[in-house]
Amino acid sequence: MKILVTGGAGFIGSHTIIELIEAGHEPIAYDNLCNSSPVVFERIKAITGVDVPFIEGDIRDAGKLHEVFSQNDIDCVIHFAGLKAVGESVEKPIEYYDNNIGGTVKLLEAMRDAGCKNIIFSSSATVYGAPASLPLTEDMPKGELTNPYGRTKSMIEDILADVQYAIPNMNVVLLRYFNPIGAHPSGTMGEDPSGIPNNLMPYITQVAVGKLAELGVFGDDYDTPDGTGVRDYIHVMDLASGHVAALKAIKPEGGLYIYNLGTGNGTSVLELVHAFEEATGVKVPYAIKPRRAGDIDACYADCGKAQRELGWKAQYDIAHMCADSWRWQQANPNGYRS
Ligand code: NAD
Ligand code: WQD
Repeated sequence: MKILVTGGAGFIGSHTIIELIEAGHEPIAYDNLCNSSPVVFERIKAITGVDVPFIEGDIRDAGKLHEVFSQNDIDCVIHFAGLKAVGESVEKPIEYYDNNIGGTVKLLEAMRDAGCKNIIFSSSATVYGAPASLPLTEDMPKGELTNPYGRTKSMIEDILADVQYAIPNMNVVLLRYFNPIGAHPSGTMGEDPSGIPNNLMPYITQVAVGKLAELGVFGDDYDTPDGTGVRDYIHVMDLASGHVAALKAIKPEGGLYIYNLGTGNGTSVLELVHAFEEATGVKVPYAIKPRRAGDIDACYADCGKAQRELGWKAQYDIAHMCADSWRWQQANPNGYRS
């Protein structure tokens, strides 16, 4: 299939492009590079031998999108493009609603006008809010959200459901990611946050490589076995293969499908720190700090639906995720600017 990958230069998009190529698809990347580097396409070429077509553009640029759809017979869009920093979204809600919601609406207009009927969307486990029970299944109600970023994900899910209802032969696949970490096993591609990382694994690797002094562990009084927050970490290569599997949900009659993409295992902050130390032999100094606003005790997925319906299951364990994150960070201490 010919697949337009919005946000294709980003962390998850670039790893998904590798898996799409390996599965015989033809990805075209579309990205405005607001949080990524075009160097990633050189790395993709070195790994796959394929020069992926890259269009530098914004999803809010209706004219550019129409041009892309009229010049390419796109079978499906995988829609990663978006802003994703929770804290920043509280400071800049207008930018987040404009980029994530406004951009998605423009993309949907361009798809409708071009007759493109298939979209896979990067949603998030954040839409569940504070879980009433665990593990989370797709039929559980969405929860109360504490920040504009999370609200954009939940609103976009609703917009996509409304559009699919109005165009019944459209396929909308909502993938709710849990916590993606890890990197390509080559060590040449990985997560490249700008500035001080917000998320746990890039913070750990930057402490390990000596760029940051110590990890702050946000709270040790949660209702979890060791008191630190528990999350469902998933290797980015597993997440990438989940998108290839999600293409199987596409049916001639159309439909709306929702899948959790996680491993089903919960790991605490301190368990992740210790697993990282064990996998890499590098010590990660840490200090317990106050809780971070908006954080929940624990969150992990029931991934049975994706396994039953898509034949997909995560393969990599925490040790693998730590080793691959570290290989990338060590070889590229300054990310793609190294
Ligand atoms: P990322 O920032 O690395 O990738 C997003 C890409 O989208 C970047 O390359 C950025 O330049 C691009 N982009 C942003 N706005 C754009 C616009 N208006 N037009 C064109 N391109 C634009 O983030 P990621 O971690 O790869 O996340 C990909 C998607 O998955 C995002 O939608 C994110 O919200 C979602 N998601 C991420 C996580 C996570 O923890 N990483 C978890 C759940 C969901
Ligand atoms: C994980 C755990 C922290 C950093 C976020 C978004 C979510 C999704 C994934 C996009 C928590 C603790 C963290 C640190 C710490 N993104 N922590 N010290 O919060 O589960 O999810 O990313 O959709 O929407 O909210 O991930 O990696 O930030 O935190 O102790 O320096 O690590 O408190 O328990 P989170 P995270």
